[in-house]
Amino acid sequence: MTTTATPREAFGSRAGFILAAAGSAVGLGNMWRFSYQASEGGGAAFVLLYIAMTLVLGIPLMLAEFGIGRRGQLAPIGSLRKLGGRAWGPVGYLFVAGGLLILSYYSVIAGWTLRYAAEVVMHGFSSSPAEHFVAVAAGWDAVAFHVGFMLATVLIVVGGVKGGIERASLLLMPLLFLMVVGLAVWAATLDGAGKGYVVYLKPDLDELMNPVVWRAAAAQAFFSLSLGMGAMLTLASYLHRDQNLPESATIVAFTDFGVAFVAGLMVFPVIYSFGLQDAVSASTVGALFIALPSAFADMGAVGRVVGLFFFVVLAVGALTSAISLLEVVTASVMDEFGISRRKAAIVMGTAITALGVIPALDTDALGLMDKIAGEFLLVAGALALALLAGWRVAGEVGSELLQGASPRWQRQVPRILVVLRFVVPPIVAVVLFFSLRETVTAIRGFLVG
Ligand code: TRP
Repeated sequence: MTTTATPREAFGSRAGFILAAAGSAVGLGNMWRFSYQASEGGGAAFVLLYIAMTLVLGIPLMLAEFGIGRRGQLAPIGSLRKLGGRAWGPVGYLFVAGGLLILSYYSVIAGWTLRYAAEVVMHGFSSSPAEHFVAVAAGWDAVAFHVGFMLATVLIVVGGVKGGIERASLLLMPLLFLMVVGLAVWAATLDGAGKGYVVYLKPDLDELMNPVVWRAAAAQAFFSLSLGMGAMLTLASYLHRDQNLPESATIVAFTDFGVAFVAGLMVFPVIYSFGLQDAVSASTVGALFIALPSAFADMGAVGRVVGLFFFVVLAVGALTSAISLLEVVTASVMDEFGISRRKAAIVMGTAITALGVIPALDTDALGLMDKIAGEFLLVAGALALALLAGWRVAGEVGSELLQGASPRWQRQVPRILVVLRFVVPPIVAVVLFFSLRETVTAIRGFLVG
């Protein structure tokens, strides 16, 4: 219970909310995780399945979060309790824990991108990128860049919904779109780009039937769309009733896919025209931090300019995503304990920064945290949200989605509810089963190795 009479903060414009949600969605997931997963999962087969997962699971789940958040007008813990009843409060705590965990290692990777950008400006790319990456990703330097990135994130969140999050998104997102398109156009001019396009765009039909690729595509959709831990829910809690939620969710999902797809149009040609495909599958971070820098290093001055743009794009995308992760945690603490935004953001930002020291010093720990949070917690959270929105409070969510929607979009609402009720839960349950197995294997491997 809060005793303050200040009204809840709100977005100032419809575009502001859409860009903030797109800013949350578009991040390292689009450029790093997507390219990596696509090269693992048979290129275009993964891309096709990913589109299917975005449409069938992603948009309905995003609407579940939008509907619950705007109806509840509180951060996850409060909104889930208000709509679902007391028993749902703990699920909200799980979301907050997920946000804490994800941001702590996400910020470490973002710190690497900042460091690469700074180094390119000062002295260009290293001629031995693999060794260089090992040096970047370990030790107290990595901690320092992580702290710097967290500082920027906290500053924006302290600025509030309108003055911080919305303003940053309106400024940074258009910049990011321009740079990603510019990079893809540039990549098209490379000799041998064609080979990259073939791998990326020509489906391998065997992979299309591979359940592992299905699971990977679903998990990637949750991660990339920021679903399953209340980030979209929290942003929507700052909305007035006039926002067209189904339309907004569709725009955000297509924007997110568009950026991932266009980023792939850059990454694949570069990788294949420089014959770097082995470096990509060698490790999850190989493509971004080893293969591309080695291509940039070979290109001299052009590589330096293009490479700088590339790492700036990554850092910008990471920042707008990190904002939403910290906002989930901050808003929950504000709502639950009735403390100020400034205090909540600084205290929780400090806690996350401290937790991030572990993955900053140990990339194996980082990989494990990504498995536990990115694969398992998000999928479990998505299942909980689908059950809440599709069954327990379907009526309330349905009427919330109708508000502010144009007639054309209103006609989609019953369909969305049917999907949330009957289609999403069984698919996500199967994915959860396989994710759990993977996560347990990863934990075992970490403890033994
Ligand atoms: N979607 C972001 C990305 O693709 C990461 C992210 C931000 C996220 N907020 C989230 C992931 C909430 C899961 C949940 O990089």
